[in-house]
Formats: sequence, C-alpha cells, structure tokens
Amino acid sequence: MILDIISKKANKYELTREELETIFMGYLNDEVKDYQMSAFLMAICINDMSDSEVFALTDIFIKSGDVLDLSFIDGVKVDKHSTGGVGDKTTLIVAPLVASCGVPVIKMSGRGLGYTGGTIDKLESIPGFIVNLSEEEITKQAKDIGIVITSQTKDLAPLDKKVYALRDVTATTNSIPLIASSIMSKKIAGGADKIVIDIKVGSGALLKTQEEAERLSSLLIKIGTYYQKEVRTVISNMDVPLGYNVGNKLEVLEAIEVLKGNEQGKLLDLSLDLATKMVSLGKGITEKEALKEVKGNLESGKALNKFLEFVKYQHGDVNNLSIDAKVYNIKANKSGVLKDINALAIAKLSESLGAGRKSKEDKIDYNAGVVIRKNIGDEIKEGDVLASLYTNIENPTFNLDKAFEIS
Ligand code: URA
Repeated sequence: MILDIISKKANKYELTREELETIFMGYLNDEVKDYQMSAFLMAICINDMSDSEVFALTDIFIKSGDVLDLSFIDGVKVDKHSTGGVGDKTTLIVAPLVASCGVPVIKMSGRGLGYTGGTIDKLESIPGFIVNLSEEEITKQAKDIGIVITSQTKDLAPLDKKVYALRDVTATTNSIPLIASSIMSKKIAGGADKIVIDIKVGSGALLKTQEEAERLSSLLIKIGTYYQKEVRTVISNMDVPLGYNVGNKLEVLEAIEVLKGNEQGKLLDLSLDLATKMVSLGKGITEKEALKEVKGNLESGKALNKFLEFVKYQHGDVNNLSIDAKVYNIKANKSGVLKDINALAIAKLSESLGAGRKSKEDKIDYNAGVVIRKNIGDEIKEGDVLASLYTNIENPTFNLDKAFEIS
C-alpha cells in the first residue's frame, strides 16, 4: 500500500486524502520508515501537488495535534510568520507596535534550529525573561496588556515537526506545496483569525526566485480562503541580512533601537509594512489608515512603551542587556566598493561564534553574534572595520571573502 502511494506520486497521479493520510499518519506513528517518507517527499518535490492535495495535507497536519482556541480573548487575533531569514528580528518590533494600536498579539514562537536563534531564544537572552507561560498566565496577560509571546503550550502540528526534520536532511525543504501546508497548519492550529506572512526570497532564503515566492504567496492565500482565514503576504529580500545585528541579544538591542526611532532602513521599512498589514486586518481598516496609526505609535514612543511593558510583565530586565563577550573586529583586506554582504555566510559565522544550535541539545551563547558595520554601496578603505564578532570562543576563524564582496 505505502509503495503504491509512493509510486502513484512518482508517476504524477493525484493522491486522495485517504492516501495522503495513510502515508503521513503512518509516518507519525512510525509505521512508515524514514527512507519511504524521504522517497515520497522527493516525489512531491519533483512532481508537485494539486491544490486539493495541499488542502488535505494541511488538514492532516493540523489534526495531528492540538488546536488552540483563542476565542476567550476579545478582538481579531492576527498572527505573523516569516519563512526564515538572517537577522530577522521583526517580531520583536512588530508585535509591540501592533499591540500598541489595540490589536491583540498572542504569539506562540519557537526556538531556532540552524544558523540563528528563534524568537524565543532572542527573548530568553533578556535576563529574567520567562518564556514558558501557562494557559492561565497567557489569558491574564492578554487581557491586561494585549501582548504575549510564549513558547508553545500545546503540541501544535507535531506531524509537520517530524516531516520538517526529515525535509531538512533530505534536500526537500524547498517544495512550495510542502512549505505552504507546513506554515498554514501551524498558524491555524495556533488559533489565529488572520495571518500575515513574510516570504523571504534570495540567496539566504529557502526560496531563491520571485516567481517561487509569488507562487507560495498565492498558495498560502488559497489555503487561508479554504479555512476562512484571511491571509496577506509580503515578499521581502534575503540576499543580505536584515538590519545590522545577527545573534540573539544583539538582535534584541537592535529591535530596541528601531523602536526608539534610532534606525532607518530595510528593517524598519519591513517592520512597518508587516505591522500595517496586521493592524489593517485586525481593525478592518485600509492599509493607508493602518500605516498612519502604526507610524504615529512608533514616533510617539507608544510602541517602545508597549515593548517595555511586555518585557517587564514577562519578568525581563532590559536595563541589563550589556554584551558579555570578546570583540574581534573584521577589517577590509582591500579598498573598493562594498558590493555584497552574503546572508548565508553571516548566518554560518554567527552560528560558529555560538549564536545558533546544530542539534536540539546544543546550548546557545546569547551574547554571541555579528554586528555589520558597513552598508552595501559604501566606499571601503583597506583596514576599515566591516564587522565586529562577539564571542566567547577563543580566536574564531573567519573567511572574509565569503561574507563581504569588495571590488
Ligand atoms: N517555515 C515553515 O514553518 N515551514 C516550512 O516548510 C518552511 C518555512
């Protein structure tokens, strides 16, 4: 039976919901082996999935675990997701910004596996910050201050988690139907009413071309429509890291600077765009009206105050965010114009300094990371500092040419 299902997909036939359920639930229950699921996932990568197969798979992922009910919290709950990027600390900026506009943000976030930490790792780098909240605590905090970011209380879409771990090691991560069902199952299981998704495209992202990003966008919107959950997407570039800081505590510090109005550029622009879409969805107003409100709350300091209120409520101390690590400055070995800052190379570097984890058990050094000191297009003189490395590892190694292109 399992072999028939694999060969049906390999021969480009559409699968029924029952067939998808047999193989995927069989995998969750350890009846289908890793090698069988690997062959099947590769057949999907090569031969794609129809819309009805994607809807069925999303449903199977959702029903493999718990589904949160956030209806006890007043207002439209809008969630945000990013397909993953280097230096992406937008949640730390966007969540308080949106909450300061009166749209509740109740976000279950994850730890990172791979080159950089996830939102929960970033928040945990704030001394005292508590990420494991009970359902009672989440409810009380949501009612009191309208913003909660916590690690998952329930087992949301466990089948996606198991399949994703296999995709990661079998070169099957970049299948658009698999990405779409993976993201949407988690967001729907997380109880969101409406969803904003940041699709990253570029050398440091899962998707490399605009066409792929557009196809993912339309599929995410279709799945949303199927579940009566409005979805809006942003397609954003990930050829270069987002902002200047990569690494957990360093990213919190940068997010605070953006909230203080001290940093302009792509990180601010993307944060405003995501927040605008969330506020527009949450309040049922136009994006023009939402942008005005979002910008107003950033400029007046309301968003920063909401961030500080949120961190304090979860017992964090932002007055104690100094970086406890050695600093190594990376200097340009020639003069010229800075042509490229390679996101993937910076991510790998940051991980090698201690900011990411290779396996679930690895401990993160919250102080580790990279601060980029120059912008693309800058005139560089030999000896100029391109980046500062923060680490507790002695004499870190670094391949300059992989990360910075000067010509
Ligand atoms: N993010 C997800 O949650 N799942 C994917 O498959 C890709 C990005």
